[in-house]
Amino acid sequence: MIVLELKDQVLEALEKNKGAYLSGSALAAQLHCSRNGVWKAVKALEADGHVITAVTNKGYCLASEDDILSPAAIEKNQGELTGLFSIDVYKSLDSTNTLLKKLAGQGAPEGKVIVAEEQTAGRGRLGRSFFSPAGTGIYFSLLLRPGVSASDATRITTAAAVAVALSLEAVAGVNAGIKWVNDVFVDGKKVCGILTEGAFDMESGGMEYAVLGIGVNIAPPQGDFPPELRSIARAVSETAVPGLKSRLIAEILKRFWGYYKNLTDKSYLADYKQKSFILGQEVDVLAGDSTRRATALDIDDDCRLVVRYDDGSTEALNSGEVRIKPIV
Ligand code: BTN
Repeated sequence: MIVLELKDQVLEALEKNKGAYLSGSALAAQLHCSRNGVWKAVKALEADGHVITAVTNKGYCLASEDDILSPAAIEKNQGELTGLFSIDVYKSLDSTNTLLKKLAGQGAPEGKVIVAEEQTAGRGRLGRSFFSPAGTGIYFSLLLRPGVSASDATRITTAAAVAVALSLEAVAGVNAGIKWVNDVFVDGKKVCGILTEGAFDMESGGMEYAVLGIGVNIAPPQGDFPPELRSIARAVSETAVPGLKSRLIAEILKRFWGYYKNLTDKSYLADYKQKSFILGQEVDVLAGDSTRRATALDIDDDCRLVVRYDDGSTEALNSGEVRIKPIV
């Protein structure tokens, strides 16, 4: 059983009543502690940046606009999946994937989730970095122990891309599409990147674990994106929407889990194709230093991108990258 610190217990209780007052004595009775203990916990939460108002004879209230991530804020939105994931939230981490890989190696169970408000060394695909400023994005990793082969493991990433695109539509009301393999775009710019890393069991040839890392730009970062990202990246929303980050994490986990439980029957593939916006478009296929012009034709049953080159030949691409023509 996980024993929460008093501070986390107070936050959990306030989160359940967000926007309403809970008296110090009711909190103390509920949490089997003194009113002074509650007061100290509230001070500690405020020091963490939470917006809590205290009114004599009414008690404490977590402000509706409080938007700091917490396990309680995410779990509140999990419906029937409550309790399935074990969620830890950090103010700042180098990378949620890096920490979760370490925990996976130490035997952490499937369903462990690491969330950070900020990453100081967020990692992207192909050795790139992932811009992860404080407070304006969601950066989280989910530990899976799928026991599938390497080829089936690639479906984890593609299923996650569909889960993100559909969650953005359901929760944020934006029209999101997938750029093969695993970038999620809104209005022609990338809002989400996904990085899945794993370790194999040499004896069975199956996966020992996979760490699925998802980063979504939710609101514009203070001072805007760095110049090199401005033409290719954007945020989901023009302004911060209180509660959106928590709702989105919960929704992505829920939708991904639905696909993940049926990963080998490819039921997600139809949704993936439906959300892929590059089919029929001209793309540049990048291979090492060379680039070939092609038309994206289809996504096959193994989630490979089928392209036709200008010379008429076709190829099913396994990985690598395609660049879409910039929108002018
Ligand atoms: C990409 O677009 O190249 C993939 C970016 C993946 C970013 C996420 S954020 C959470 C997790 N932790 C990381 O360090 N990276 C992934």
